[in-house]
Amino acid sequence: VDAGGRLLLPGLVDCHTHALYAGDRMAEHVLKMQGMSYAEIAKAGGGIVSTVQAVRAASEQQLVEQTLPRLEALRAEGVTTVEIKSGYGLDLDNELKMLRAIRALPRHIAMDVVPTFIGAHAAPKGTTREDYLELVLERMLPAVAEERLADTVDIYVEHIAFDLHDLERLAERAAKLGLKLRAHTGQLSDMGATRRAAELGALSCDHLEFMGEADAAAMAAHGTVAVLLPATFYFLKETHKPPLELLRRHGVPLAVATDLNPGTAPVASLLTAMHMAGLLFGLTPAEVLAGATRNAARALGRQGKIGALAPGHDADFCLWDLPAPEFLCYQLGGLKPSHIFFKGKRT
Ligand code: NIG
Ligand code: FE
Repeated sequence: VDAGGRLLLPGLVDCHTHALYAGDRMAEHVLKMQGMSYAEIAKAGGGIVSTVQAVRAASEQQLVEQTLPRLEALRAEGVTTVEIKSGYGLDLDNELKMLRAIRALPRHIAMDVVPTFIGAHAAPKGTTREDYLELVLERMLPAVAEERLADTVDIYVEHIAFDLHDLERLAERAAKLGLKLRAHTGQLSDMGATRRAAELGALSCDHLEFMGEADAAAMAAHGTVAVLLPATFYFLKETHKPPLELLRRHGVPLAVATDLNPGTAPVASLLTAMHMAGLLFGLTPAEVLAGATRNAARALGRQGKIGALAPGHDADFCLWDLPAPEFLCYQLGGLKPSHIFFKGKRT
């Protein structure tokens, strides 16, 4: 391939999304603009559980159709691998429906799609957290493992969702089934979940606005990736930033992702999240680029396969009409690769 002097970069990796969903949360967004917080909206019956109704009402095919334009937006910006979580079904059939729809997506678009099971996203209406977690552990996890619908499980640990003990039980059960662990931790509060998830071998801890020294040390010791989600920080009008200096000092690998979802990050643009990681969180352009390639691959357990231009890796790469990589963190909007190659083929 004659690149004509253009910049050659690995295909980008968006390692944390909830991109498969139906409906929207526009009404909540208006409340948010008027000053209501995400936790207040969730406690008033909005949030994750309001998307659940829409997802339950949609067929597998409808979920695929509604998700493809969002993936196409990511693809056009040079994303060649996207991770997508379940977590809006919150019962056995609907969680499996989501994961089957996620599995069907690559038949329609030239991208790798990595599924993650996050049954432990919220307890659905009319169920206690305890009863629902039993269902996740006893029915959903074995079904996901048996049908091989995902090889990684995630959990939302937060005062509006699940607690430390739930994390430990999920991790134990996942390990028995040979499933890898990731966790949403430290988004709204520090519940001690980041260090615990790292000790339990989590591939990544994601969000991390609220974390401390012991968390960073545990992440470094266990090779856990810190996935930063600045678009969510922006949409929730958060002010408490992830402790970047602490993460750097301990040498924790940093990744950057969109968190694309209808509630906290309706952002179908990894380049936007990358820009925000630079300007809002203070990552250097080199950290941002590693965060959307090499370290994002690591958060997915796919290092050595994607996220780098090196022998043995998939030939996922893009050509950019830019003078240098740091220009990806400069112009906001309108940047696109001139050529996209997926598995060695131009798309
Ligand atoms: O990463 N934190 C939990 N999950 C998503 C929000 C999903 C939703 O509100 O629909 C997040 O912010
Ligand atoms: Fe998330």
